[in-house]
Amino acid sequence: MRMSYTQNDLMVEVANLRKAFGDHRVLDGIDLAIPRGTVYALLGPNGAGKTTFVKILSTLLPMDSGTARIAGHDVVADPTAVRRAISVTGQFSAVDPLLTGRENLTLIARLGRTPRRRVAGEVSAMLERFDLTGAADRRVATYSGGMTRRLDIAISMLSRPNVLFLDEPTTGLDPRSRQAVWELMSELADRGVTVLLTTQYLEEADQLADRVAVLDGGGIVAEGSPAELKRRVGSDIVDIHYGDRVESLTTDGSFADIRRAILAVAERPEPTAMSIRTPSLDDVFLQLTGQPRTRRDREGVDA
Ligand SMILES: Nc1ncnc2c1ncn2[C@@H]1O[C@H](COP(=O)(O)OP(=O)(O)OP(=O)(O)O)[C@@H](O)[C@H]1O
Ligand SMILES: [Mg+2]
Repeated sequence: MRMSYTQNDLMVEVANLRKAFGDHRVLDGIDLAIPRGTVYALLGPNGAGKTTFVKILSTLLPMDSGTARIAGHDVVADPTAVRRAISVTGQFSAVDPLLTGRENLTLIARLGRTPRRRVAGEVSAMLERFDLTGAADRRVATYSGGMTRRLDIAISMLSRPNVLFLDEPTTGLDPRSRQAVWELMSELADRGVTVLLTTQYLEEADQLADRVAVLDGGGIVAEGSPAELKRRVGSDIVDIHYGDRVESLTTDGSFADIRRAILAVAERPEPTAMSIRTPSLDDVFLQLTGQPRTRRDREGVDA
């Protein structure tokens, strides 16, 4: 009988990881294990420490204590092996603005594991996939923010990493480009690539991730599949609208409980609208971190 996961199947193993900036404890004992081929989403409000965590795992920032192994390599003892196994797309772009999109991709494809005769073809396919064919031979300096972001992600996918770290990969992307990124991530996971992404978009974690961890106050406050996390919040939610204000009442999903929720507001002025829905990760986030999503989370604009 085969065990479901052997040690080797864990591509990210983090134990009791701590990091502080001065007195500010950002990561206060993080444990995490991610099996091969998983899309894992790290959710958390602004300043929760998501970028700090990704930087530590990708050897860009030292941890204070704890251990982290990526693809079996210790981040502190063997950073070179870790760097060979990973690819990182940060919150800020790393492409060369003086080269064209095609040149940027070609450079990476040649440095990476793409066989030489397949470089041009793969580069063209990637440009096509990210809707950059028309701009392929223009300098990146002339690209819009969204185009640069798409190129950045295309580059990190070209180097065929075993583990892909994506820090807010779709922030600022339009829905179509976001969809393209989602499809690619799923495909990569099917091929055995392990993806750790951070996101502000709960719907992104919901759609894409096999597992989700919610980071808040220095620790992981919840971990599980999106469905498991939603179940924690309860079953059906009754939304009662008074103009712009919405009151959400959690129920166990039974008729009796939904009836109780509605009767509880029966004495109030008549609502402008009412609806019953299943909980979203939004509700999970609100319940666990005690704060609603910010405007930036909702609209993808920088605060
Ligand atoms: N080099 C640094 N020196 C001091 N404080 C830092 C440094 N880097 C990050 N911090 C602080 O650590 C905390 C976590 O920052 P981090 O960038 O990891 O958060 P985040 O979850 O990625 O936030 P966001 O959603 O805004 O990207 C913040 O309070 C930040 O101000
Ligand atoms: Mg960040």
